[in-house]
Amino acid sequence: MISTYDFRLRRTATILSVAIVTLSAIAAITGVLISFYYEPAAGGAYQSLKWINTEITNGLLIHTIHDRAGTLLIGVSLIQMVVMFLGRQFRSSWLTAWVSGILLTLTSIGLAWTAIILDWSQEGYWRFRIELSTIEAIPLIGSTLRDVLVGGGALNTTTVEHLYTIHSYLLSAGAILLAVVHLWSILKQEKEMKGELVAPELPAQKEVELT
Ligand code: HEM
Repeated sequence: MISTYDFRLRRTATILSVAIVTLSAIAAITGVLISFYYEPAAGGAYQSLKWINTEITNGLLIHTIHDRAGTLLIGVSLIQMVVMFLGRQFRSSWLTAWVSGILLTLTSIGLAWTAIILDWSQEGYWRFRIELSTIEAIPLIGSTLRDVLVGGGALNTTTVEHLYTIHSYLLSAGAILLAVVHLWSILKQEKEMKGELVAPELPAQKEVELT
């Protein structure tokens, strides 16, 4: 038996999971549109994004929607985790939604992180260099991880290509998959719980004296 409060939490989680799927789809579609003109190269990346913003019809709009959808995805996923934590349950559909939600939050953070250097701006370049030194400091795997991300050696076109591939193929496909699994398990959970909803208490029946 579940209370109306729990059911409302579940409904909020359902709405947020629909928002998550929508935001992931918007980010993926606008990402593909950006990729038609984006050049994953040191220097060229900055110029191509500038070109997209100024010369391509609706380029700035699509670019802005991509940025906003990606950022909102992180925010909504984090709120979803709080909502799910408040309504936590011991059932497999909840666990699937919880695990996929956590992985999705991490993936969306990963998408924003891999995009740091994609615009090849001064800010992005220096931010990425600082973050790389943190990655390098990880015991045992630090330097290998750095080489995988950077492509070995200094930051150059190979680095942009590596991060572009991780961002646009691996992580974006992962985000879409996780968002669908998350929504599916939330819907399954809501269906299960609907049948268990406690009926609102009925007012005490008045005793009618029959004389
Ligand atoms: C679920 C899918 C995706 C999400 C959540 C996502 C998210 C993001 C985020 C947060 C940024 C950084 C925006 C900023 O702060 O400036 C970004 C940048 C970028 N994304 Fe995606 N992305 C997705 C899919 C894709 C795909 C499929 C492509 C290309 C095929 C792509 C291409 C790019 C490019 C070129 C940039 C650099 C633009 C810039 O720095 O302003 N993205 N993305």
